[in-house]
Amino acid sequence: MGFWEFPKRKTLGNLIGKVVNLPGKPINTENIIVAIEEDEEISMHALLVAKDDDYLYLLRVVDIFYYSPLATPQDSKTALVLFQKNVTPEEAMGHFQAFRAVRTELLDVAIKEEEEFRLLGPKKIPKPLTPVYRPSSESYKLLYGYQRNPVTVGKLIDSDVEATIDVQNLSRHLLVIGTTGTGKSWFRGVLLERLYDMGVPQLVFDPLRDYVVAVEDLGGVNLRYGRDYLPDLSTITEGSFANMLIDVLTPLQLSIALKGFRKFKMAVINGKHGPEPAKLLDYIEEAAEDMRARDETRGNVLGRIEVLLREMGYDTERRGILAYSGSAENILTAEKLGKMLNDKLIVNIDLRGVGDLGLQTTVASSLSQLRHLREKDVVPPLIVSFDEAHRIAPRGKGSSPALPIVKDTIRFGRHYGIGVIAITQFPDSVDIELIRLPTTRLIFAVDADQIGAVSGLLGDLPESLRRHLPKLERGTAFLAGTVDVVRHTLYVRISSERRTKHGGETPQFRVRYGGYRHGQA
Ligand SMILES: Nc1ncnc2c1ncn2[C@@H]1O[C@H](COP(=O)(O)OP(=O)(O)O)[C@@H](O)[C@H]1O
Ligand SMILES: [Mg+2]
Repeated sequence: MGFWEFPKRKTLGNLIGKVVNLPGKPINTENIIVAIEEDEEISMHALLVAKDDDYLYLLRVVDIFYYSPLATPQDSKTALVLFQKNVTPEEAMGHFQAFRAVRTELLDVAIKEEEEFRLLGPKKIPKPLTPVYRPSSESYKLLYGYQRNPVTVGKLIDSDVEATIDVQNLSRHLLVIGTTGTGKSWFRGVLLERLYDMGVPQLVFDPLRDYVVAVEDLGGVNLRYGRDYLPDLSTITEGSFANMLIDVLTPLQLSIALKGFRKFKMAVINGKHGPEPAKLLDYIEEAAEDMRARDETRGNVLGRIEVLLREMGYDTERRGILAYSGSAENILTAEKLGKMLNDKLIVNIDLRGVGDLGLQTTVASSLSQLRHLREKDVVPPLIVSFDEAHRIAPRGKGSSPALPIVKDTIRFGRHYGIGVIAITQFPDSVDIELIRLPTTRLIFAVDADQIGAVSGLLGDLPESLRRHLPKLERGTAFLAGTVDVVRHTLYVRISSERRTKHGGETPQFRVRYGGYRHGQA
């Protein structure tokens, strides 16, 4: 091949371009220009790999541009004068000096040592004309290191490389953020299937009934709140119980309620009776007597708690009727929960339409039960997940019964073997630890008013790319995390393949045509 002959394209596998020098713009770590082959498509945020004999350079696309000498104001005017005709965009790019390029930043450099690559950090830059490729699974492995039990969640944007999360890292929790309709629950559904296939037990709190159909399809257990599920009040902690009441009782009333609650808990633990809430009311009455409360005070405490219990779906009439459907059967005990998780792997609590207090108490009670089950090693390490995290662990005044135990699980969950997946569209309304502590984060498009809340979570994503956050395509997200878990933030297309049905579809309005229609006279 002669020097001036053009090489045939597509002979170099996944070669997509070369590092080039623009006049007056030196190559540096934040400015590595890659001229792109004519028929290659590259998106913003894509990951590319430059390769020379010694090193591998990981690059992230931060800008896309065209250059044509025919398109400068002077040259397009000259062309008009000479040829009496405007240069078209196609002609401009058809010029032999025209090129399409992406600007990239250097993420990392790897050196090959005895067939193994080792990351050096962004310490060297590729020389001009270094060939650039799409990433291979080899470069992905490099970025993410060894994953013991990888779960595929999708693909890196513009590539066939599978994006994976190591199940082992889920014990340090996963946060999923994004505006409504961006693909959070779909993603949770993807994970639901894959974790199921791997045999990892999952307890799902389902406030919007997103997962009922999928859980059914997978042979898991669906429990409908109020019908076949009510939280076991004896399992929640005193702190959680206090949080249920703190807004509605005076300090004296609260101390009476807590004393009664302690007695109730002890009696259930000692097997004196079951966790039916009518018994709780009896103990509170006893506590009021012990503390010589006036009749009025006693009446107020009992009245308030009865209202709460009824609001949560318990029937507190003292006629032996213990719960909504007429029996204590539907109060889920730790023992039953453990058996279901072991036998069926997925337990989904359908909480659609249930108020905040019922939702929060369900989470508080189940997490306490799981803790107990894990301590006794009755169930293997498992995943707990919830959508609507802002309702379960709200930021600010700590009056959610779920908050103390959620915080505790987030802090120490890895020691218990309980990994939390928290999903929300309002990260700025979620307890700050639940936002900050999870070591893996998946960030879908977020509204502009939530960007402040997520900007600290985006890892090494450069400022110039953060402004795209409100407009990310549905089903795509940034995968970020702490450096040891997700070394470089990546843009991922979440898998569209699911074998179970997603339940979160928005019902469509039925529209009747006829009469006036927009655009018609
Ligand atoms: N990765 C994906 N592949 C295919 N369809 C998707 C994907 N992500 C989201 N969708 C579609 O978008 C809709 C909304 O996604 P969903 O996960 O329910 O949003 P939200 O973020 O509110 O939980 C889904 O019903 C599904 O049809
Ligand atoms: Mg959802």
